[in-house]
Amino acid sequence: MNHKRILVTSALPYANGPLHIGQIAGAYLPADIYVRYQRLKGRNVIYICGSDEHGVPITVTADHENITPQDVVDRYHAMNRSSFEKLGIAFDHYSRTSIPLHHQKTQEFFLILEKKKDLVVKESEQFYSEVSHRFLPDRYVEGTCPFCGYDKARGDQCDRCGKWLESKELIDPRSKLDGSRPVLKPTKHWYLPMGRFAKAWKNWFDQHAWKENVRNYCIGWYKEGFTDRPITRDLHWGVPVPHQEAKGKVLYVWFDAPIGYISSTMEWAQKQGDPDLWKTYWCDPETKLVHFIGKDNIVFHAILFPMILMEVGGVVLPDAIPANEYLTIEGRKISTSQNYAIWLNDYLDRFPPDALRYTLAANAPETKDTDFSWKQLQRRNNDELADILGNFINRTLTFADRYFNRKVPERRSLDKLDNQMLKQIVVTRDQMGTCLEHFEVREGTKQLMDLCRFANKYFNDQAPWETRISDPERCQTTINICLQTIRALSVLMIPILPFTSEKVQRVLKLKDPNQWEDVGEKEFLSGHQLGRPEIFFEKIEDQVIENEIKAFLGMGAEGQKDMETGSKTISLETLKQIDLRTAKVLEAKKIEGTDKLLQLKIDLGDTTRQIVAGVAESYTPDQMIGKTLVVVANLQPAQIRGIESQGMLLAVQTEKGYTLLTTEDPVGPGLQVE
Ligand code: 2FM
Ligand code: ZN
Repeated sequence: MNHKRILVTSALPYANGPLHIGQIAGAYLPADIYVRYQRLKGRNVIYICGSDEHGVPITVTADHENITPQDVVDRYHAMNRSSFEKLGIAFDHYSRTSIPLHHQKTQEFFLILEKKKDLVVKESEQFYSEVSHRFLPDRYVEGTCPFCGYDKARGDQCDRCGKWLESKELIDPRSKLDGSRPVLKPTKHWYLPMGRFAKAWKNWFDQHAWKENVRNYCIGWYKEGFTDRPITRDLHWGVPVPHQEAKGKVLYVWFDAPIGYISSTMEWAQKQGDPDLWKTYWCDPETKLVHFIGKDNIVFHAILFPMILMEVGGVVLPDAIPANEYLTIEGRKISTSQNYAIWLNDYLDRFPPDALRYTLAANAPETKDTDFSWKQLQRRNNDELADILGNFINRTLTFADRYFNRKVPERRSLDKLDNQMLKQIVVTRDQMGTCLEHFEVREGTKQLMDLCRFANKYFNDQAPWETRISDPERCQTTINICLQTIRALSVLMIPILPFTSEKVQRVLKLKDPNQWEDVGEKEFLSGHQLGRPEIFFEKIEDQVIENEIKAFLGMGAEGQKDMETGSKTISLETLKQIDLRTAKVLEAKKIEGTDKLLQLKIDLGDTTRQIVAGVAESYTPDQMIGKTLVVVANLQPAQIRGIESQGMLLAVQTEKGYTLLTTEDPVGPGLQVE
């Protein structure tokens, strides 16, 4: 179908931490490149995004930092919005899901489904923490994935195999709030009976040519059979379930977040002064809807959201979901919880945006995971952007400055090489255009750089520094054509290198509106005045990159704050320095004049020790004797109330007091904890 307009979305990032470059490579840069290209083609396109401000990760952060979820999302919404802007991700609108408009729209969707009897209300058992006295939806529970055995699978999704989980399915579940083993408790929830919509979904799905990863994933799911999925949660943060009796229940974040694409478009329309304008995009079948996402979001965008849209009716469904694979860094998977990531705001504080855009575009994880390394950034910046693209522009502008008074010289008769150069501009425009139209950013980026290579060769072959003396007319023609090439490049560059393009066009004093089709067609008239040549790409020095590598590889190791637990990470080497051993309590007595302290004599296998422990309010001396504990055996001795303590026992503090760490089976003293 020939579409009248294009509605592009990128996954709404959680406002729960800074963005990292893996997210950029997956869902934002490819979308921005696509949108910029469509704008240059003169198409009616809008690019919509916003912060995903609900969901358990946000409340977990708020709990850890002892602040409100609103504080968390305010902080990261502002930070991420600003990072996007600095990277040149040119949304038409960047909204957020905590706004009333979004809540209303989401509740409206829920009520429509309910009215159509598309929802099922069931009482079921959900995990509940008896320590924290609350239900533990989604990521409040961690455990072992029943599909792949990953032992840190989250309650809603396994990070390793990507399966969409229900926390009850986890093996060996534990509460992320307090470490306790959750118990099951009955609670009422609303479910989307996905099986009921499977046929309609499949009909729709089969009518499109999906990217291979999207097709395989969805068909795999479909074959397993769609089951009822709860779309509500026992939580206080989120879009409230619109019913009096549903206090303390909110809609599942994956129910509300995609509706954020619609509410963000509505907010955009309001800001345009035409509140109904969003309908032109969402309610007219002649709109092409494209969702840019990372592969972990496939199920929600290709199955759940289309099902909801289909049932609600009157809105368009996605036409394309160019889901990307993952970006690894220095050969390892990005892990935000282990702080193994390059954070976008950090990067932008030190390096130019276009170097990152180019590196990620040239190496986009389109069909398989790809790796980003600091050396690669340096190589792409220095050897390609600076030495090929920058060099061509610079040598041409410098020549024009020196010998033609910064005026475009006249074009005389054309030779074979001139014609080849001019033809190559048009060929690249068309080939690169086809790539960008089909989400092939890697190949499109290569085409751009190949044109620069071609142009450098042309400059060398024409040797204007010689013809300047031997054949001035030839020299004029060569520089004229090189300048036309730069003019063309300055437009072709826009999707990938928008900042550089702007600078180049300033120097070219190019004021015409940029249009893809004008590339190779509209040219400078001779005599056009140019600005002074500039350096467009600074080289990145070896030392700078070495420092980045050192700092980065140290990052996942030690001293950095773990984003999820809030504690600082340590290396295995550091961990090994702690001598943890089993110890048997031989003697115990209360330390006089204190309520909390016990003096213990413990057997460490090959030696005995005296330690002072603050557990007297939870254990009597008699209860201690004979117990096998876990102790830190190599802690520096300390004087406590005048008594030397030669180690420390391990215990957990709960609301009821201390619980000693001991071993599941009876074991002897002096054994190493591993
Ligand atoms: O994975 C994520 O970061 C989600 N916040 C993406 C949401 S996409 C859309 F549905 F809003
Ligand atoms: Zn798994």
